[in-house]
Amino acid sequence: MTTYQFPEKFWWGSAASGPQTEGRIPGDHKGDNIFDYWFSKEPEKFFDQVGPEKASQVYTKYKEDVQLMKQTGHNSFRTSIQWSRLIPDETGAVNPQAVAFYNSYFDELIAHGIEPFVNLYHFDMPMYLQEKGGWLARETVEAYETYAKTCFELFGTKVKKWFTHNEPIVPVEAGYLYRWHYPEESDMKKAVQVGYHEALSSALAIKAYHETKQDGKIGIILNLTPSYPRNENDPADVKAAQIADAFFNRSFLDPAVKGEFPQELIEIVTELEILPDMQEEDLAIIKNNTVDLLGINYYQPRRVKAKETAVDTTNGPMPEDYFDNYEMPGRKMNPYRGWEIYEKGIYDILINVRDNYGNIDCFISENGMGVENEARFIEADGMIHDDYRIEFVQEHLKYVHQAIEEGANCLGYHMWTCMDNWSWTNAYKNRYGFISVDLADGKRTIKKSGYWFKEVADTNSFSI
Ligand code: BG6
Repeated sequence: MTTYQFPEKFWWGSAASGPQTEGRIPGDHKGDNIFDYWFSKEPEKFFDQVGPEKASQVYTKYKEDVQLMKQTGHNSFRTSIQWSRLIPDETGAVNPQAVAFYNSYFDELIAHGIEPFVNLYHFDMPMYLQEKGGWLARETVEAYETYAKTCFELFGTKVKKWFTHNEPIVPVEAGYLYRWHYPEESDMKKAVQVGYHEALSSALAIKAYHETKQDGKIGIILNLTPSYPRNENDPADVKAAQIADAFFNRSFLDPAVKGEFPQELIEIVTELEILPDMQEEDLAIIKNNTVDLLGINYYQPRRVKAKETAVDTTNGPMPEDYFDNYEMPGRKMNPYRGWEIYEKGIYDILINVRDNYGNIDCFISENGMGVENEARFIEADGMIHDDYRIEFVQEHLKYVHQAIEEGANCLGYHMWTCMDNWSWTNAYKNRYGFISVDLADGKRTIKKSGYWFKEVADTNSFSI
């Protein structure tokens, strides 16, 4: 039997987001974001036609939920403030009910010894800004800066870990390349502008936070997908993997940590004549305001081969003009989500950060396994026996442990997610939580993995 012991004060917990958990109640004065709006127009695009207003009703149940977090070993927990709850319309007025809710939520966490990690943006563009172009518009960057400053002023005495964005590549991919999310466009010029504005907004929020002189840290959360070539000895495959890495990882990782965009990307975007609109001082703002802390979300790797298929010009240029995705024979898959499970990927990311990103303070901010119809795993004790999830987390943690042993500066591990939550267009299809939520009555029940996780967090170790 081997014991995997983690460093002292390791952050154990989970992550969630405002739009995926809070839900809405009449009179809460929350404004619509793009998901509220999109669901009201096209509910059929969401699994089982379940919308964000339902979510898990954390808005009213957070006290009960914090108790459950305690029972599952959390010493830290991430959620996000919903921009459209705090600042519901274009007047810019702050919603006092939102302030009271977030204050009470964060107080409750702190009172239970759970440090709140708070993210500012988790895909939830307020509709009043989307109508003006969302991240395409400079006005949104300015509005975001004001929103960020408002959050630091309101909650900065209790929140000491801030994040500017969660997975900023997702609004680029989902909204402006692959039509997964509203506004369902496919236009690489727009995608570049959106990504650029997100990166700039992140630097502006970091600048504003540091200027407050508050004694916390501010970072960004990135979903990193290590990019592996089909054949490591084939220069064309290797080149293809490097380009995919520049598009999907370094596009945000480099500006966030090093203050500059990858040269490969600048060359491609220049050649395609789709450079974003910029202002003179922007690049200096990005250069001078890098993160204190890096959150790493890891779900799956990306496997890539040299371009073999014909370039599809229907929608103009696309990242896939430069590589083909590669379905490696025999790879292990999560059959529910269709994502590859490759545990060593988490180690490769941490070692890359150690070697190429100054070994900056970092932590695993999301990792998890979505499974459909988990009710079939309920046993006589009434609990979901999600041994597959325990194994998934354990196998990833082994690699996190190894990376730490080899000098990676990884400070914690957060699971996605605490309670089963509403996942964008997939709604409640894939369940990720340590705790199940009955959609009919909102009842929460800790799963077997929740008790297992408590043991790991309490002993700061596990043995197998
Ligand atoms: C991450 C996001 O990408 O993956 C979460 O930060 C999301 O918001 C999670 O819910 C799981 O993805 P999905 O699409 O299976 O819900």
